Amino acid sequence: MNEVTPSPADIAKRPIVVPPHPEWPILSPDEKENLKARIKAQLKAQNAVLVAHYYTDGDLQELAEETGGCVADSLEMARFGSVQEAKTLVVCGVRFMGETAKILNPEKRVLMPDLNATCSLDEGCPADEFRAFCDHHPDHTVVVYANTSAEVKARADWVVTSGIALPIITHLAEQGEQIIWAPDKHLGHYVQRLTGAEMLFWQGSCVVHEEFKSVALERVRRLHPDAAVLVHPESPAAIVDQADVVGSTTALINAVTSMDNKEFIVATDGGIFHKMKQLAPGKNLIEAPTQGEGATCQSCAHCPWMGMNALQNLAEVLETGANQIEIEPGIAEKAVLPIHRMLDFAKQHNIGMKNRGNA
Ligand code: 13P
Ligand code: SF4
Repeated sequence: MNEVTPSPADIAKRPIVVPPHPEWPILSPDEKENLKARIKAQLKAQNAVLVAHYYTDGDLQELAEETGGCVADSLEMARFGSVQEAKTLVVCGVRFMGETAKILNPEKRVLMPDLNATCSLDEGCPADEFRAFCDHHPDHTVVVYANTSAEVKARADWVVTSGIALPIITHLAEQGEQIIWAPDKHLGHYVQRLTGAEMLFWQGSCVVHEEFKSVALERVRRLHPDAAVLVHPESPAAIVDQADVVGSTTALINAVTSMDNKEFIVATDGGIFHKMKQLAPGKNLIEAPTQGEGATCQSCAHCPWMGMNALQNLAEVLETGANQIEIEPGIAEKAVLPIHRMLDFAKQHNIGMKNRGNA
């Protein structure tokens, strides 16, 4: 990097503006049913399906499943959208998920309840600075996490999600490739520790998973010695080191249903508890602590951007056609290549091909 180009470490020091968690008005049962009926009617009339993430509101997750859509992790969301007949995909999640759906399905209309639903990883990886970083290391294979903008994906050789990062980096390490990894430093370091791959890191992080506190987690584990600890790999190493299972949202949900433990301490966004409770109603699910030394509790383990999705604005976008995702064609043409590479790899290796939520 030259003197005028900031390094990934400098960029990581810039503050990310984290909005407060949206406070949606509490709906009466009648209001809720009315909104759901409006949404269902629009989905049918417009040949549209809902593609929702596990961190979104439980009502949205249920509606997606009831209406032939899906609730999934980001790998399955990308795959599901592209095998749909539907002409419109309504993505309930964060912006990069809507962009990925549009890149993969340029002929489809892609709507989102709120286009401001971003992600701290995406925000912390500006495309021009990322391109400069890559240009400075031209001999490296560029691997980016799905939680990035279309422009950043357009500069990548591979896109990965948490559900497929490990096998793809293992594959690249076996080929002896040197890797640029962006933007999540925690997921990157986790994967590097397991694969020994030669990696250069962007220094981004998820503001939600950053908040888990390791000393407080040790205390909770002492109080629940038989609990299994489930951790999303966007969490810091001191949290990952205490895990019985580290994995994507789908992997963590699968752990709750497949493991014999009666108690689980879960270090990821609180939205995941909806699906876990549905599938394993008898199990005791405990939120990993975000309180403790240095606690900020900006999000308290609830992603404010995921919280921007609600029945109210979902009904509105379906009725008005607002909030369409558009990607510049030149960018989409480039960004689709590393996403397809990931999906082809997933298919070849039979990774994440089942939709957990609808299983
Ligand atoms: P998953 O792909 O594991 O669902 O993760 C997406 C995400 O944004 C986690 O914070
Ligand atoms: Fe981004 Fe973290 Fe929110 Fe996931 S939980 S969308 S990584 S800010």
